[in-house]
Amino acid sequence: MTYREDIEGLDASILMHPRVWEASGHVENFTDPMIDCKQCKARFRLDVLGDQINEKKKKKAIEALKENNKDNPTLISKVDTILSGSDEADNFERMLIDDEIGKLLLAELNCPQCGNKGTFTAARKFNLMFKTFVGPVEDSGSVVYLRPETAQGIYINFLNVQSSSRQKLPFGIAQIGKAFRNEINTKNFLFRTREFEQMEMQFFVQPANDKKWFEYWKAERINWYYSLGMTKEKLRYYDHPKDKLAHYAKEATDIEYDFPFGWGEIEGIHNRTNYDLSRHEEHSGKSMKYFDEESKEKYIPFIIETSAGASRSFMAFLIDAYYEEEVNNEQRSVLKFHPKLAPIKAAIFPLVNKDGMPEISREIEKDLRRNFKVFYDDKGAVGRRYRRQDEAGTPYCITVDTQTLEDKTVTVRDRDSMEQVRVSIDKLSEYLLLKING
Ligand code: GAP
Repeated sequence: MTYREDIEGLDASILMHPRVWEASGHVENFTDPMIDCKQCKARFRLDVLGDQINEKKKKKAIEALKENNKDNPTLISKVDTILSGSDEADNFERMLIDDEIGKLLLAELNCPQCGNKGTFTAARKFNLMFKTFVGPVEDSGSVVYLRPETAQGIYINFLNVQSSSRQKLPFGIAQIGKAFRNEINTKNFLFRTREFEQMEMQFFVQPANDKKWFEYWKAERINWYYSLGMTKEKLRYYDHPKDKLAHYAKEATDIEYDFPFGWGEIEGIHNRTNYDLSRHEEHSGKSMKYFDEESKEKYIPFIIETSAGASRSFMAFLIDAYYEEEVNNEQRSVLKFHPKLAPIKAAIFPLVNKDGMPEISREIEKDLRRNFKVFYDDKGAVGRRYRRQDEAGTPYCITVDTQTLEDKTVTVRDRDSMEQVRVSIDKLSEYLLLKING
């Protein structure tokens, strides 16, 4: 965003008028189908129940379902059509979420938690938004929601930002911020949490150009992960089938990362059409139309959204950067972060704590700290200090040694190649800047 003149930044509210979420469709549609076990009271998301049941048990339940309903050929043919799909996990999910088949299949399944059979309730819609109240009275008139996505804050501020920044279509509005979802099954560390950070950008385009911009942002976003060093083979697109699109989307693609627990979405790119702005216009009674000076027309723009999870992508970058390797017959753990992502850009060490080396090192630290996040360390042997910075992913370690006292140069050690070069103290800032920004 900082590097593009066609994208503005915003920090919208977390708590917005509750009707924003009626207009967006979240009150009605932002739900997961849930079932409970009547015996042990465990709660499960219906669509992913299959993940907790082994293949043998799934097959047995399907066979029992077919056997018990063999006098209903219409139902059997519906089951066979679903089973002809190539992805077994997907077939099972489609059966579970089918109103008619789902009920019968649930009756044949054992609860993954207590093992009892036929103890599931019927599926209910469970809204994922967290509710709270404004003011001292906790009644239905004072309900507000913690935002489940940052996007809606951008939509309701669209004309505000557009007119004050004097942007013309196509242009985008981006923001980073917290989002909250009452996820039933949080899992895999930062992958699914109830409170997480999103980095979303909404790009407003002329309706006729939606396809072009959708493709543009798909390419642009995967290139962003490549440019920050993520392993190409561990990234892929997943195009959503038409019958699984979110309520607002005409087209959607996920960027997925190959986590140790399997492929998982780190970012979604959506063609949200004019759905959101039209709904806000309808619900607020305020025009959301953009006046196109070139065509002299007024219309509601289409929106191409890039919605990345900052916490999920962070976890992917962390996993991708982690290596254990042997160096000089010694094991080292190292985070090979792209220098732009490394939380500490350089560490400064005096070789020994005497002969003026600490004073020179402190001077270097003070000078570099104006532009970089740096770390001063004078504890233990230099080898151990390198290891500690390798673990933190610090790309450069600067050591002040005896030669520094003679010619005002220091060694700069590269985290990945472990090679050392001598750099003049007065050129250190420039050297690091070039290395970090490429
Ligand atoms: N505005 C569109 C939107 O919110 P989404 O696919 O529901 O789309 C976008 O979410 C991104 O937010 C996901 O790709 C993921 O990185 C992140 N995300 C969603 N739910 C999450 C959760 N429970 N925990 C962590 N990250 C989550």
